[in-house]
Amino acid sequence: MYIMAGMTMSVPVGRVTVPSTKLVVAAAATVASSRSCINSLSNNHNVSASCSSASSSGSLASSAMSGTKLSLASLVRAPMAKPVGRAGGEISAMTVTIPQKLRGADLNGAPKEKHSQAVHSLSPEKRELFNSLEDWAESTLLPYLKPVDKCWQPQDYLPDPSSEGFMDEVKELQERAAGLPDDYLVCLVGDMITEEALPTYQSMLNTLHGTRDETGASPSPWGIWTRAWTAEENRHGDLLNKYLYLTGRVDMRQIEKTIQYLIGSGMDPQTESNPYLGFVYTSFQERATFISHGNTARHAKNFGDAKLATVCGLIAADEKRHENAYSKIVEKLFELDPEGAMLAFAEMMRKKISMPAHLMYDGQNEQLFDDYSLVAQRTGVYTARDYADIMEHLVNRWNVASVQGLSSEAQKAQEYVCSLPPRIRKLDERAQAKVKKGPKAGSFSWIFNREFTLL
Ligand SMILES: [Fe+2]
Ligand SMILES: [Fe+2]
Repeated sequence: MYIMAGMTMSVPVGRVTVPSTKLVVAAAATVASSRSCINSLSNNHNVSASCSSASSSGSLASSAMSGTKLSLASLVRAPMAKPVGRAGGEISAMTVTIPQKLRGADLNGAPKEKHSQAVHSLSPEKRELFNSLEDWAESTLLPYLKPVDKCWQPQDYLPDPSSEGFMDEVKELQERAAGLPDDYLVCLVGDMITEEALPTYQSMLNTLHGTRDETGASPSPWGIWTRAWTAEENRHGDLLNKYLYLTGRVDMRQIEKTIQYLIGSGMDPQTESNPYLGFVYTSFQERATFISHGNTARHAKNFGDAKLATVCGLIAADEKRHENAYSKIVEKLFELDPEGAMLAFAEMMRKKISMPAHLMYDGQNEQLFDDYSLVAQRTGVYTARDYADIMEHLVNRWNVASVQGLSSEAQKAQEYVCSLPPRIRKLDERAQAKVKKGPKAGSFSWIFNREFTLL
């Protein structure tokens, strides 16, 4: 049985409250305009409309340089989705998906989101398909997991508090970390906080019909995968958290507050309890984290902290293995049900892949995620261009362009996803060109509000 919820069309609204930023966001338009462009593309707006959005971002960037506080919410257009069909489902009624961030007293001002959407869109037939894939999941998916005794553990890369040399090792770690610039630290903290919200991601996987862990300790290969994936991921936030704590350069209390707020806020990636959508989302996200941790590894090496480079590199390697596993599931869906897989891929791209920690809040800065995204963009840790590159990678990984025998609706979806990466790239280049001017500085509570210059 499946249930349709939220069938009504809502009026799009942005954030209710106006952010008071601590970041001098002259360059905020970089991210915002890229996001607007992606939003526009995701929702079939034409190119000229997208570019006018980019240009208005540029003028706001100028006002930011003169000290005006910005609300990025004003830059992000509310999307009106044009459905291309229900991925893996039979629901024909239109569901309008409207991302919103609202603030609620229940979370002491932390952001929360509500979407008007289907929450159960997998048809009984598609659910049966996942049941029939249990043997496949056991033989093909589970081998992507590593046995615990072959896995690295955070303690392997941290000073040993039981050893006599502990204090010396901490001192060495702190000396190495002293050379890490503040903007880089902000990226590392943001990545760590994202990893630390792991309970949210396990919850998300356990919303998916046909693959969720029905009991909490289900012997089904899908349940085994979800728990073991979570257990592997748990080491990421753990290691980064302890490493950053030992550097002595970050405000751990502010970071811990941010993690608490973030887990409390949760996340709705708009996957509708539908594993077709869910595994497109996880394929994308694992690759995004692979790129981000890979870049923080590369930068750590350049800044002279080879041990931190190893830490980030290890995490990136895990993300890559997880990406391969999730991509393998979607590859199988393309093999067994190309129509449903194509519609799912297009649907997630139209909705836009929301970043897992986009509701982050430290109790002070209401546009914390936008500011963190901006720093990641400017330092090259994760950029709007990466979004297009990931899409293109997945299009190639699943041989999307060569899928045959599709209905006209799925052919349209195919054309859409294949044309999207170059379009996003083109719009991003135009947006970037408009905002690369003027001095930019930022400060975050995570680093005791030290002010730093943005590249
Ligand atoms: Fe991770
Ligand atoms: Fe991951």
